[in-house]
Amino acid sequence: MSMYNYAKRSKFESAIKQMQDAEVNGSELYFVLVYLAREHGLHDLAEAMLKNASEDSVHGGMYGAMLGKGKETVDELWKQAVRLYKVEATAQSKLQKMADEMRSAGEPELAKCVEATIEEENEHARRLKAVFDAHGIAY
Ligand SMILES: [Fe+2]
Ligand SMILES: [Fe+2]
Repeated sequence: MSMYNYAKRSKFESAIKQMQDAEVNGSELYFVLVYLAREHGLHDLAEAMLKNASEDSVHGGMYGAMLGKGKETVDELWKQAVRLYKVEATAQSKLQKMADEMRSAGEPELAKCVEATIEEENEHARRLKAVFDAHGIAY
């Protein structure tokens, strides 16, 4: 049985909402601390918090699905994945344009931070594309 939209038929809808908020807010804070721990060279702390953040994020996703977020059918799920792929695959030119504007405006440090995300965005697209190819999904 799918837990999609489960909250609507549960006595615990508000508890599910509270748990979703707690997991999402907690993982967001973790991710910020991961970045800051890396800036300070605390790579072991960053690694531990990154794993916790990812798992808490998925816990938030579970409660989010119970609240009817996301997509119910497999077909809709693939379509949403393809939409995300398109965003990831076109991120490079948009981010580079933004970084160029920042550099021209005299904020090279900010430009460098934005540029540092580009290769991972490209990898996000490649990662999804590999799964589409394996499943014969058009994108
Ligand atoms: Fe959690
Ligand atoms: Fe991404």
